[in-house]
Amino acid sequence: MQDLKGLILSGGKGTRLRPITHTSAKQLVPVANKPVLFYGIEAMGQAGIEDVGIIIAPETGEEVKAAAGDGSRFGVKLTYLLQDEPLGLAHAVLTAQEFLSDSPFVMYLGDNLLQGGIADLVAAFRSSEPDALILLTQVPDPEHYGVAELNDGRVVQLVEKPLEPHTDLALVGVYMFTPAVYDAAKSITPSGRGELEITDAIQHMVDGGRRVEPHIVNGWWKDTGRLEDMLAANRLVLDTIDSRIEGELAESQVDGRVVIEPGARLERCAVRGPAVIGAGASLIDCYVGPYTAVGRGCTIENAEVEHSIMLEGAAVRNLAGRMESSLLGRNVTIGRDRRQPRAYRFMVGDNSEIGIL
Ligand code: G1P
Repeated sequence: MQDLKGLILSGGKGTRLRPITHTSAKQLVPVANKPVLFYGIEAMGQAGIEDVGIIIAPETGEEVKAAAGDGSRFGVKLTYLLQDEPLGLAHAVLTAQEFLSDSPFVMYLGDNLLQGGIADLVAAFRSSEPDALILLTQVPDPEHYGVAELNDGRVVQLVEKPLEPHTDLALVGVYMFTPAVYDAAKSITPSGRGELEITDAIQHMVDGGRRVEPHIVNGWWKDTGRLEDMLAANRLVLDTIDSRIEGELAESQVDGRVVIEPGARLERCAVRGPAVIGAGASLIDCYVGPYTAVGRGCTIENAEVEHSIMLEGAAVRNLAGRMESSLLGRNVTIGRDRRQPRAYRFMVGDNSEIGIL
């Protein structure tokens, strides 16, 4: 088989992660302090795929470019491909056709995380040479995904987000294709949500007698499109970290697997891992509980934070109750307001969600 290329999708609007995605690409939201997109790029590099295209959107493309650069630090060469409008995954494939040329390729949705990478799958694709290889996994809520029905291990029917699913096998956001996919992507019509669905393109391949091979994923997989998924992905990745203390600890206690990046300073704090504290963060008189990722330059003072993600520059001060299961965007501040009259005072963006005690 010819050399494989990679295609990572980093466009889309990220509507389910608003307000974070009002100002930032969903693929750049960090999981264990690393943009989710980087896990996909690293997976490509580890599978030996060097030539990788990244689909970007007009609104967030520059930010994605600035973050991932030319790819050299991941050991790959990145080429940015602009998709003018979010018209679907199959439309993204057509947008990339010129770049991909006649190479077979791996398509990776930039908000997906797959345990163990893709090297095994790439090897399976290379050895059995099907027209397409799809990854499937059992999920409790198949109505939120594309699903595939199998019969005797063969793919018979694929449906995008079925109201009444006949199977609990969801399509994982990693696909392998030969150039046979282009004809299929050109033959389908937009779905109810106005997108050219890759699920429909694959169905078209099945109907046309193309060989579409299913592969069941055994490790964990996360699509980080929603808050619960972000927190779950954060848990899964934090469960795999090794301790590393490079910041400064003063009268502080650290238990379990904890990463403290250089320049972070902890004073009279207790951190119970797994947790990661970003570079330059300042933590005073606080407790940081399991499954927390505190971003670069964050502040936590006189407060307790657990099972949460704080993006760069966020600050939490003087809370009477513990903050948990929260996602704070960049430079968000939460604190006690002592001015009169005594009142809650908020300045929050569209689609924010606040729960108070
Ligand atoms: C997309 C695909 C869907 C797949 C999912 C995996 O959904 O359309 O078939 O199961 O990714 O993450 P979307 O995120 O566009 O709703």
